[in-house]
Amino acid sequence: MIRLTDVTVYYPNTESPALSSVNLRFDEGEFVCVLGKSGAGKSTLIRCMNGLQQPTTGEVFWDGEPLTKRNNEQQRLVRREIGMIFQHFNLIPRLTVLQNTLTGMFGYRSSVKNLLGIFSKEEIDNAKRVLDVVGLSEFVNRRIEHLSGGQKQRVGIARALLQKPRVFLGDEPVASLDPGTANRIFLLLKELHDRHILLSVMNLHDVELAKQFATRLIALKNGEIIFDGKPEDFTQEIFKQTYHS
Ligand SMILES: Nc1ncnc2c1ncn2[C@@H]1O[C@H](COP(=O)(O)OP(=O)(O)O)[C@@H](O)[C@H]1O
Ligand SMILES: [Mg+2]
Repeated sequence: MIRLTDVTVYYPNTESPALSSVNLRFDEGEFVCVLGKSGAGKSTLIRCMNGLQQPTTGEVFWDGEPLTKRNNEQQRLVRREIGMIFQHFNLIPRLTVLQNTLTGMFGYRSSVKNLLGIFSKEEIDNAKRVLDVVGLSEFVNRRIEHLSGGQKQRVGIARALLQKPRVFLGDEPVASLDPGTANRIFLLLKELHDRHILLSVMNLHDVELAKQFATRLIALKNGEIIFDGKPEDFTQEIFKQTYHS
């Protein structure tokens, strides 16, 4: 459903590419984890997939259609299909859990309604339902600033889920959390993936977590793919290549 052909990304005033001739194909049902040390190109890859970063050369296809050839309205429709999950949650601290979750509906509504924060009873009921799914029904009216990291990420996931996305994209969704919480958040992501999502692609550092949950692993190094395969084939040798030297 998403395909990258020969995608190369150069940032301005840099000598080496952040991504170098990357060819990838993501299919329905996959739960993909992308590994690589800091600077390997993981975030750039995710941003190419959601259209926030234009490849310098190469193309990204969604359902066979090139992303760069779409106009703004068409790009907005694509983004609506992507539930983004961020390392630092990207929530509004002074608003409540429910209010933050409802911003997941913004892609479906007029900008005036969004500005005024007017939501129908149905939208609020749907938001409460997804908050129940992520285990936050008791925290609906609590402000984000009074939540733990794990609870904040559950709000981030609820907001993404409310969009009814086909795809989950995560840029280090558990990097700010302690190991136990990280594990529980990944378990939740995988459960939601199995029930509601066609494709999930998650960047992360933690190889053990990736091996536990992913159906496919990709390792990036200096903007190049050095591994793409089954978790059980990700050997100690490839681990070393990914993270050392
Ligand atoms: N906005 C930017 N301007 C210039 N260089 C950038 C920018 N964003 C990322 N880079 C560089 O691109 C490379 C890949 O970065 P990134 O995709 O953020 O990797 P990762 O997410 O794996 O840490 C790095 O060398 C990084 O320094
Ligand atoms: Mg990154």
